[in-house]
Amino acid sequence: MSAVPPGTLHGVGVGPGDPELLTLRALRILDDAPVIAYPATTRGDSMALAIVDRFLREDQVLVPLPLMFSPAQTPDDPAYDRAATVLAAHLDDGRDVAVICQGDPLFHGSFIYLLERLGPRYAVDVTPGVSSVMACAAAVPRPIVHGAEGLAVLPATADEDRMAALLSQADAAVIMKVGRHLAKVGRVLDGAGLARHAVCITRVGHADEAIRPLREALALADGVPYFTVVLARRA
Ligand SMILES: C[S@@+](CC[C@H](N)C(=O)[O-])C[C@H]1O[C@@H](n2cnc3c(N)ncnc32)[C@H](O)[C@@H]1O
Repeated sequence: MSAVPPGTLHGVGVGPGDPELLTLRALRILDDAPVIAYPATTRGDSMALAIVDRFLREDQVLVPLPLMFSPAQTPDDPAYDRAATVLAAHLDDGRDVAVICQGDPLFHGSFIYLLERLGPRYAVDVTPGVSSVMACAAAVPRPIVHGAEGLAVLPATADEDRMAALLSQADAAVIMKVGRHLAKVGRVLDGAGLARHAVCITRVGHADEAIRPLREALALADGVPYFTVVLARRA
């Protein structure tokens, strides 16, 4: 048995892009953690790391987790098992691990799959982050939802019929993970009567941020990137 008590697993939301949207709590946890883990592409790129790297120190261990950007990735993907095994080794040695998460860790975040695997075995602490949804609405600016309105939050990767059914009851909608699904998003929002005032926000808080009416985005020859949210509201 290990002589040291296990470390704590921290899920730390770092916001959608602008480092000014980091919370004081996130900065404190990042400053205290000896190990910083971050979701990365197979090339090593990480949007979450780019947001916080100016606040990290040389003595902190950086652990890339190749979790994102695989369209085939599912909750039972072995990539999550491998990531959990790497983090468990640090936790078993008594080191706290901060997993940095773009936006909020528990809102469509990869951290959810690590929490499922490691939560039953280790102490867990989550720092909420400013979600891309809130930052997108602020960037326009426009309300997400108001008064007695009901909001639907959907991934654009969902089946078209399911999206249409959920949107049929909604007064307002947030569509995540738009990317190559933009045409489908346009169709279902139109069918639900939500397309007219819909706005497409890409890479909010980054140098190449773009805000366009949905109809303009639909006319783009190159479509829109994965890091795009569509906000729609009947009113
Ligand atoms: C896996 S989800 C992660 C959401 C994140 N946890 C959050 O709270 O914003 C990825 C989706 O979030 C949205 N997203 C994340 N960052 C964004 C940004 N900077 N600008 C626009 N959309 C963003 C996009 O819809 C993207 O496809």
